[in-house]
Amino acid sequence: MTTKKIIITTALALALPLAAYAQKELPAYLDDTKEIEVRVEDALKRMTLDEKIRVVHAQSKFSSAGVPRLGLPDFWTDDGPHGVRPDVLWDEWEQAGQTNDSCLAFPALTCLAATWNPEIAYLYGESLGEEALYRGKDMILGPGVNIYRTPLNGRNFEYMGEDPYLASRMVVPYVEGLQSKGVAACVKHYALNNDEEYRNQVNVVVDDRTLHEIYLPAFKAAITEGKAWAIMGAYNLYKNQHNCHNEILLNKILKQDWKFDGVVVSDWGGTHNTDEAVMNGLDMEFGSWTNGLSWGASNAYDNYYLANPYKKAIKEGKFTTKELDEKVRRVLRLFFRTTMNRNRPAGFLCSESHYEAARKIAEEGVVLLKNDNLRSTKTPVLPIDLKSVKRVLVVGENAVKMMTVGGGSSSLKVQREISPLDGLRTRLKGVAEVDYARGYVGDVTGEYNGVTTGQNLKDDRSADELIAEAVAKAKGADYVIVFGGLNKSDYQDCEGHDRKEFALPYAQDRLVEALASANARTVFVNISGNAVAMPWASQVPAIVQGWFIGSEAGTALASILVGDANPSGKLPFSWMNSLNEYGAHALNAYPGTWREDKKIIDEEYKEGIFVGYRWADKEKLKPLFAFGHGLSYTTFEYGKAERLPNGDIKVSVRNTGSRAGAEIVQLYIRDVKSSLPRPVKELKGFKKVWLQPGESVEVVFSIDNSMLSYYDDTKGEWVAEPGQFEALIGASASDIKCKVAFDLK
Ligand code: BGC
Repeated sequence: MTTKKIIITTALALALPLAAYAQKELPAYLDDTKEIEVRVEDALKRMTLDEKIRVVHAQSKFSSAGVPRLGLPDFWTDDGPHGVRPDVLWDEWEQAGQTNDSCLAFPALTCLAATWNPEIAYLYGESLGEEALYRGKDMILGPGVNIYRTPLNGRNFEYMGEDPYLASRMVVPYVEGLQSKGVAACVKHYALNNDEEYRNQVNVVVDDRTLHEIYLPAFKAAITEGKAWAIMGAYNLYKNQHNCHNEILLNKILKQDWKFDGVVVSDWGGTHNTDEAVMNGLDMEFGSWTNGLSWGASNAYDNYYLANPYKKAIKEGKFTTKELDEKVRRVLRLFFRTTMNRNRPAGFLCSESHYEAARKIAEEGVVLLKNDNLRSTKTPVLPIDLKSVKRVLVVGENAVKMMTVGGGSSSLKVQREISPLDGLRTRLKGVAEVDYARGYVGDVTGEYNGVTTGQNLKDDRSADELIAEAVAKAKGADYVIVFGGLNKSDYQDCEGHDRKEFALPYAQDRLVEALASANARTVFVNISGNAVAMPWASQVPAIVQGWFIGSEAGTALASILVGDANPSGKLPFSWMNSLNEYGAHALNAYPGTWREDKKIIDEEYKEGIFVGYRWADKEKLKPLFAFGHGLSYTTFEYGKAERLPNGDIKVSVRNTGSRAGAEIVQLYIRDVKSSLPRPVKELKGFKKVWLQPGESVEVVFSIDNSMLSYYDDTKGEWVAEPGQFEALIGASASDIKCKVAFDLK
């Protein structure tokens, strides 16, 4: 038996400590900060008023002008965040019809967060950066780090879950990886864009403590640690002011407190008036006169708030060029970091290394939620037993439906997408026969923004007929694998709207219940970026969270189901039993209250800091699947946690099963007694460890004051109150294995 030792280092200077991931420096060829500042000032001096105005707003749907006279090329950006979106026409949302813009789809960011592996987030960013370079894109509109406050949010799949610490640790390496290729990250949507319904009218009402403890940390980490070169203002309002030109969020917090030196980009159509845009920190205006997604007024660019109206106001003496120069400085800095960097590496599109990266991320992010023993054999249902299996029945629309098309601005045009059914067929070729039954009909359209899947999913049979067919086939199968969940259509996991209900759509509950009673080896694979109600969970022996995992979906899911890969993902959000178990819904604090004029809807975050497991802990609720939960095909045993003389916390973890596997060891901190109400516990460290059968590892977490602090909104700073604390070591937020008490003097 071997024992290795892993030390989690923390950086005292930071508000949030680092996990084991060693922060990466920008490659030397890109790091020429001093030189850049000289060039910025030099270029600024040479630019005319017209040239300055031209670089602070868009010139097409996804580009802004450079300064040709000075040799500065146009600047191209694109969505984001899971692959490089196909090109649309210059001034319309229709497809440009290029033949070289079929990209690779990486797993959606919920899946990335579920890996709990910062190294893999770096790989994600790097690979995406190479795809962007090939496609001539200088900035990717992503990653998104809005917090999972309600499972109805149509865009949760694009974000990194409910916990500010986890999201922070995962966003930093994504940004670093992407920017290591000379492609800017544009972190979005800053801030408080936590649901989609009425996103342009929502005025978020939130206390300062909640803002700083829950909703800002991931943005702050992306800026202060990841050194993101751009950030996108959100559509919604905060303190009655639109976030794309919000005095507090942009001027005060982002630029003054966090010392952000990059560019604030508006969300598409998120700018609303010139004065605020000039004064309140917006640097680049995009997408005005569009809804950001589909329609757009033709050639409106000269009328943008930061275009002619701004120039006119300067000429009339309303503004000096002070603000303009500051915006242009930032834009020039962005140019020198990207388009003007002659040392940018080469790009690759759809390379084998990118497919491999996508598959690796997917395999590490898939979460095995439940895997009961079969009564007959006393062994868990999964993985599929390759020695005995003869017939597998695959059921469900999501086994065949392409998921990379749809969902809003993150929709892609992929070179290939392997469906779960094809993935299983390929893997089980020569091993077992794989049959298919549709089971349910969801959305058969398969089109977004002019990209079509080319799939014909039309099926006019009734739910009863579809269920009857599946059940009949299930009876003779060794395994029934149901691929259900949500999809990327409107009111599902899709931008622009939220889900209307927590329940699974399309009569899937009936289907799953019928299949589970027809076949004891029924497995439900949920494809979604959100938790869904599973009233039948106790009747289904195995449940897998399969996310939206892009091009390699089928390959990765098959390798998990047959056990080629041992599942190692853990949930980045709490999966509650019903909507009422989420604070925002329990307190009726979503979607808010319309004002009399029906123009603004005030959404008060009444649950405050108690989001996700913080709410479940406070209310003593038992989630269906807890934050941080995820099973493996092997088992792990935790030793006793121990406090070392230097204050570090040490715990040993051993693989007690017969397969190699990875465990994510989680550190939660509990403030035993405090002057303010605090969460029962908060995630402050984690480490993913890979262990061979019988192997054990010592994981050491060092503790610093930042991990013990709360945000004192009377002082406007983080405070660690002396007193008693506990370090809780767990395999999930609901599975605490051991704890150690300690005092902060
Ligand atoms: C979305 C952004 C996206 C932009 C450009 C907006 O509607 O909110 O996330 O980057 O469109 O497509």
